[in-house]
Amino acid sequence: MADAVVDLRSDTVTRPTAGMREAMAAAEVGDDVYGEDPTVNALEAEVAALFGHEAALFAPTGSMANQIALQLVVPPGDELLCDADAHVVTYEIGAAAAYGGISSRTWPAAGADLDPGVVAGMVRPDGYFAVPTRAIAVEQTHNRGGGGVIPLATLRELRRVADADGLALHCDGARIWHAHVADRVPLAEYGALFDTLSVCLSKGLGAPVGSLVVGSAERIGRARTIRKRMGGGMRQAGVLAAAGRYALAHHVERLADDHAKAARLAEALAPFGVLASPVRTNLVPLDLTKTDLDARGLAAAARAEGVLISVLGPRLARLVTHLDVDDDAVDRAATVLAAILRR
Ligand SMILES: Cc1ncc(COP(=O)(O)O)c(C=O)c1O
Repeated sequence: MADAVVDLRSDTVTRPTAGMREAMAAAEVGDDVYGEDPTVNALEAEVAALFGHEAALFAPTGSMANQIALQLVVPPGDELLCDADAHVVTYEIGAAAAYGGISSRTWPAAGADLDPGVVAGMVRPDGYFAVPTRAIAVEQTHNRGGGGVIPLATLRELRRVADADGLALHCDGARIWHAHVADRVPLAEYGALFDTLSVCLSKGLGAPVGSLVVGSAERIGRARTIRKRMGGGMRQAGVLAAAGRYALAHHVERLADDHAKAARLAEALAPFGVLASPVRTNLVPLDLTKTDLDARGLAAAARAEGVLISVLGPRLARLVTHLDVDDDAVDRAATVLAAILRR
């Protein structure tokens, strides 16, 4: 029998485990637009408490959760500052502008190595003559930044920058769980630094669907209206929330296994000089500029051998470890990729 395909494109490709499916099947449900789904309500309360905030709102996707949060903290016509490689300005299809009327300005892509001094220098004060800055968004961990973890000290400094000008600080925490496991920073400590967070259950945690916006009761009340306006009001969503609750209970600490697998891949590929940045979590970014290959070529050659990887740019590829990749699969992928790089 041919070996199964090893899918390292993203941690979004995971399928719900048997235990998760059982939890979904057993979920108590109601109509969440009426606020009557007990499992959704329990998930929202649980996630708010984890981050030390008053409230949370279940949303279908991380993109919607981010965009709801941005609309909460930046009025139409005003400005958001973020990294040039941030998910919110790279992969959310212009939603901040299209739905929120938000003007975005970016600092040069720095991944997790962001410099709060650079951000401070970009802030434009309130006034009639320039677009006023209202919020700063960061990504923890940083996706295009190779899964890098922004150090707590940097985030604290950024909080001071935001406070100095009365700005809101938003965290795209799609993979904040990985940062928590890698740096052992309590989730509540991250929560205390941000006005709003979006956190995903459908990436490393392995739920099929679901993200939450986290914030104050007042903001989450408004978030509920924005979610409905964006078409994100769901009905018996407890089936999905149950998957999320299961993931929180069973799949957070095990992220350390994914990090170890990513480190093994990195170790196997390091001799080829292709690691774009040190591997801290479950993402392995490959910079192919010192090889004869481009990212599409590497992806095609790997696919022919049953290993799927992502193409992020002409010479930038990415491998992601997750719940559905075991040790044997990692070893096989490492062997396949090393053989291609050696050619
Ligand atoms: C950092 C980051 N934020 C947000 C998202 C958006 O999540 P979704 O695909 O659920 O919209 C992703 C998706 O991969 C992500 O990597």
